[in-house]
Amino acid sequence: MPKINGSTILLGVMGDPIAHTASPRMHNAAFDHLGVNAVYVPLHVVSGQVDAAIHALRVLQFKGVNVTVPHKEHVMPFLDELDPLARQIGAVNTIVSINKRLVGFNTDAPGFLVALKEELRFLVAGKHVGILGAGGTAKALAVAMAHAGVGKLGIVNRTMASAQAIAAVVSGRCDVRSYALNSLEMRTFLSQCDLVINTTSVGMVLGESPIEDFSWVRPGQHVVDVIYNPGKTTFLQEAEHREAKILNGVGMLAAQGMLAFELFTGKTIPYDFMKQHILRG
Ligand code: ATR
Repeated sequence: MPKINGSTILLGVMGDPIAHTASPRMHNAAFDHLGVNAVYVPLHVVSGQVDAAIHALRVLQFKGVNVTVPHKEHVMPFLDELDPLARQIGAVNTIVSINKRLVGFNTDAPGFLVALKEELRFLVAGKHVGILGAGGTAKALAVAMAHAGVGKLGIVNRTMASAQAIAAVVSGRCDVRSYALNSLEMRTFLSQCDLVINTTSVGMVLGESPIEDFSWVRPGQHVVDVIYNPGKTTFLQEAEHREAKILNGVGMLAAQGMLAFELFTGKTIPYDFMKQHILRG
């Protein structure tokens, strides 16, 4: 526990629900480790109260907050400034007070690239990547892939219009196509991918998977799920069974936290430190 006094810096994470967040554990351990006089608390903010919560951050002089589901998009209009990457992604997961101005950043997308590098030694440049899903996470990762110089990108979704909308956002920066989930074209594309990522919420219950047929998986292919609970989704189990190199969402969580910590404090903290403290929960 940090020693709290009159000059303790205030930070937190706002979302709904928030009770199961691992972020306070990770950030407070990092403050202790580096001797930073700061505290990081969960902030339960319900929909409809986002404007008031942002105002409260200003009044209470918080140094910053992370933002999680379901507020990553809703906070944006209430901030003073947006980092260009957050603006392009259309979602903010980190708010920092800089000279009394609230600035919105997105560390989810660059965090994902850090996790790929740290855990799988995987660099996106020139690679073929398939993203399953077309929600907020898929959009953030598509923008990250485009910025990292992806060779070919495929957005796979049940609802084609959402996949096409994401493809339109990144088409100026990379070679991108959309595919219908579980189509023959999808299977052909995925079989040629170096990396396939599940961003859909299907898989939080063991036995459920967004994909029915795993015949496309090749030994050595990189297969990632952004879900971290369960630690090994049915999607990852099926891929591992076919000798793919797998990774769950813990790495992304650790890396977005590491990058947010740097924005909050100006200090660096190792990726492994953040990951260990998430896994300790
Ligand atoms: P997030 O912001 O976390 O990425 P989201 O915006 O709710 O989540 O997006 C959820 C994604 O999971 C969508 O791509 C959704 O597909 P649709 O666009 O067709 O709705 C996908 N998804 C959710 N349930 C699904 C299911 N049962 N089968 C296939 N895809 C599903």
